[in-house]
Amino acid sequence: MKITSICCIGAGYVGGPTMAMIAQKCPHIKVTVVDLNEDRINAWNDPDVNNIPIYEPGLSALVAETRGRNLFFTTEVEKGIDESQMIFISVNTPTKTYGLGKGMAADLKYIELCARQIAMVAKDDKIVVEKSTLPVRTAEAIQNILDNTGNGVQFQILSNPEFLAEGTAVEDLHNPDRVLIGGNPTPRGTQAINALVEIYANWVPKDRILTTNLWSSELSKLTANAYLAQRVSSINALSELCERTGADVNEVARAIGMDSRIGPKFLKASVGFGGSCFQKDILNLVYIAKSYGLNEVADYWEQVVIMNDHQKRRFANNIIQTLYNTVADKKITFLGWAFKKDTNDSRESAAINVADHLLHEKANIAVFDPKVRSKQVISDLQYLNEMELSELEKSVAVFEDPYQACEKAHAIAIMTEWDEFKNYDWKKIYDNMQKPAFIFDGRNLLDPEKMRAIGFIFSAVGSAR
Ligand code: NAD
Ligand code: UGA
Repeated sequence: MKITSICCIGAGYVGGPTMAMIAQKCPHIKVTVVDLNEDRINAWNDPDVNNIPIYEPGLSALVAETRGRNLFFTTEVEKGIDESQMIFISVNTPTKTYGLGKGMAADLKYIELCARQIAMVAKDDKIVVEKSTLPVRTAEAIQNILDNTGNGVQFQILSNPEFLAEGTAVEDLHNPDRVLIGGNPTPRGTQAINALVEIYANWVPKDRILTTNLWSSELSKLTANAYLAQRVSSINALSELCERTGADVNEVARAIGMDSRIGPKFLKASVGFGGSCFQKDILNLVYIAKSYGLNEVADYWEQVVIMNDHQKRRFANNIIQTLYNTVADKKITFLGWAFKKDTNDSRESAAINVADHLLHEKANIAVFDPKVRSKQVISDLQYLNEMELSELEKSVAVFEDPYQACEKAHAIAIMTEWDEFKNYDWKKIYDNMQKPAFIFDGRNLLDPEKMRAIGFIFSAVGSAR
């Protein structure tokens, strides 16, 4: 079966970039991205491509090339489904905030809604592709809904999890380590798998396109994130030991990373991992393990999240203790709010928890981030903190200029590893701060020698002061 029309439900961090890449590499395929969120769709259609809702290096150029040619963004969900042979489900699957599995299980209500809508609208056979990250065996539930709600048309379900990382989405999509496609081993299932393989084969070498059964594919996605997050928690656990013993975590990371069996990536000690997926996916894995009665398996993986919570709290406590055990009415400037560099995404960013902790100690927080807007910072904190909006707005100020953000501050906390922070005029920043002037580098970004030579009292995660 040759695919010429695709619909993607969900115009978010995955749906948008992924479909833009497919549209660019496959000019013969019409790609329609649909979303219920009208503001988001309007932003994707903004005549100025710099205003698209997601910041990713290289993405606006990709959209400029393909939008209106064979890439379309619309709120007409039903039409999009009806007119396509293959439908990607790329909606959000956050941690449940209510009911059974609250705080652990993935909330699949958006997925179920999509399945019901596809079943209702479809008039001819469709291939439904799980692009969202899902608990293992979700395809079974989707198949059930489709087969029992639909009007007799045939559905094939595939699992095609996305492995892109934010900040490098375009590069990751362009040159993926692998593409994973899971499907049913029946003749129709195999046909569907081959149809999706053919799409990726337009730019991905065939030996990097991996096909498996549905359950392996679904579980591999959660597993990949759990392994990556585990590396960060492992190095962060050692960062605390380094601070006590005089070892330097950067030196330790370098020394172990040169062992090719360990490898150098994901060994950067930090204030803690953030992002919309690591925590959510591990909690989901823990929940799945528990639901099969595998308590030791659940405890093993849960420790990765517990360690991460500890690291964020430890960073905040270190600021408080170093500033003579009180931050009340002191100005603490956060450089960076996004959960990593080169993205405007702040979901689950460590900055949110650290700020919340300091706000409970009555600190004043100033924030500068090159890509995260003021409204987002306030809404992130509002979500976590019980403070009234008016009170929050008195204690938190978001700046458009980093130098202003640092003016008269008692301390600076580096929360995101934005490259531009390295090139600031740090002498000028120092001169305009309260003395003694402190820097807490949560990203091991700045050169300690240089900062200390200017006069800062400098500390970084994972090295003794
Ligand atoms: P997102 O919140 O940015 O986007 C999801 C979009 O789906 C939203 O715009 C929402 O309005 C829309 N939506 C929800 N229900 C809908 C419905 N019924 N009909 C139409 N639109 C609907 O989420 P995201 O970051 O793109 O993540 C999507 C999925 O991909 C998640 O399962 C996530 O775990 C997974 N994932 C994310 C990343 C990442 O880097 N963000 C990477 C790999 C996988
Ligand atoms: C992660 C995975 O890397 C992707 O493969 C996956 O597709 C995605 O989750 C997902 O499923 O959503 P992402 O969360 O975008 O991607 O970003 P990462 O680069 O993995 O970083 C996650 C967090 O870990 C960030 O806060 C980052 O700063 C932190 N981190 C990463 C460290 O603290 N140290 C490191 O060495 C690496």
